[in-house]
Amino acid sequence: MKIKNITVIHGPNLNLLGQREPDHYGTHTLMDINNSLKDKATKLNLNIDTFQSNSEAEIVDKIQSLDSDFIIINPAAYTHSSVAIRDALAAVKIPFIEVHISNVYARESFRKNSFFSDIAVGVISGLGAEGYCAALNYAAKLNK
Ligand code: DQA
Repeated sequence: MKIKNITVIHGPNLNLLGQREPDHYGTHTLMDINNSLKDKATKLNLNIDTFQSNSEAEIVDKIQSLDSDFIIINPAAYTHSSVAIRDALAAVKIPFIEVHISNVYARESFRKNSFFSDIAVGVISGLGAEGYCAALNYAAKLNK
C-alpha cells in the first residue's frame, strides 16, 4: 500500500482540548497535536491535512470529499452513535485508524461500543496525544 496523503479528522468537542476534562484528555491543545503531526509528517515525507468539526454532517461531507490514501480519525462522541460517519468511511473505502486519547474501556460502559472499530485497520485508545503519532508512524510504515 502506498501512503502519501493523510487526513486527520477530529470529532466534536476536541476543539476544547487543553481545557476540557484534562484528567481524561491531558493538557495538549488541538493545535499542539496538529502541529506535532505536521512536523512528524514533514520528516516522514508525507502530506497531512487536519480537520475538526462538531457537526456529524460536516464530517460526513468531509469524508465524502477526500482524495486521501489514509485517515486517522478520532470520532469522539460520534464513536458511540454515528452510523452515518461509519457508512461514509465504508463508502469511500479509505483505510483508517480510530484513535482515542483516553482509554475508552476504562470509562463508562457506553464508551466501550464503537461503530468504527470493526472496519478500522486498528484502534488506539488511552495513549493520550501520543496515540495520533503512533497512528501516523504506522501509516508511514505501510509505504515500505
Ligand atoms: C474520545 C472518547 C469519547 O468517548 C469521547 O466522547 C470523546 C473523546 C477520546 O479521545 O478519548 O469526546 O474519543
